[in-house]
Amino acid sequence: MENLSTLAVKSISKSFKGLKAVNDVSFHLKTGEILGLIGPNGSGKTTTINMVTGMLPKDSGHIEIDGQDISDVPAYKVPVYGLVRTYQKIRLFKNLSNLENVMIGAVGVGIKRREAAVLAASLLTELGLGDRINEPAQGLTFRDQRLVELARALAAKPKFVMLDEPAAGLNELETDELFALLKELPAKKNIGMLIVEHDMRLIMSLCHRLHVLNYGRTIAEGLPDDVRKDPEVITAYLGSAAS
Ligand SMILES: Nc1ncnc2c1ncn2[C@@H]1O[C@H](COP(=O)(O)OP(=O)(O)O)[C@@H](O)[C@H]1O
Ligand SMILES: [Mg+2]
Repeated sequence: MENLSTLAVKSISKSFKGLKAVNDVSFHLKTGEILGLIGPNGSGKTTTINMVTGMLPKDSGHIEIDGQDISDVPAYKVPVYGLVRTYQKIRLFKNLSNLENVMIGAVGVGIKRREAAVLAASLLTELGLGDRINEPAQGLTFRDQRLVELARALAAKPKFVMLDEPAAGLNELETDELFALLKELPAKKNIGMLIVEHDMRLIMSLCHRLHVLNYGRTIAEGLPDDVRKDPEVITAYLGSAAS
């Protein structure tokens, strides 16, 4: 049996000049599991990911992986503990090759360059970019840039990956293809995946559990079918004119 790991987020909060962007949010994520972090625009999803991955200091709360407190680990070292992320806005080095971009993820966790190159090439091939390995990232379509970002995250051999709107900017077909790929990943690689996505149909079919934020607070969590029927969730989404 594969190792089971747990990421625990315990009562994290963050204020920006008096605005409680994230207010006492807790959740856990196990390897092999897909958790959807959803909520209207501005509800605190990105701020939550920023705090969990060490990119933004928390006002309070704790982050643990298998009971080990990583609350004060600096962002650049968090991947060493098995936690990586991708960004709502793509962040690739456009002048580097796709291989080099993906290698950064591996080298960042201490994998030697030679092994990193082999791993990066294999991940790019797995994601369908095997023939673009040595091209500069700037030549890629938007969809392929998103895949390179995903490959870079996976190159750190993570236990947990947090994807902030990975389908942003993709058309419907590209989005469906990406989600089909994402659905396979957690079981295939024994990774716990947290994903932020606005499309309710997609998120419902992808995720094992959902965690819903509104104005920085948790308003519901649980199985997709239960969360969908939750009156507070329905009101929050109607209020934001999303479906
Ligand atoms: N760096 C920041 N400075 C000030 N306010 C911020 C900052 N980042 C986010 N916010 C505010 O915090 C709230 C939550 O933002 P965010 O986490 O980006 O929401 P989401 O990702 O759910 O759309 C919003 O009201 C946003 O304007
Ligand atoms: Mg966001």
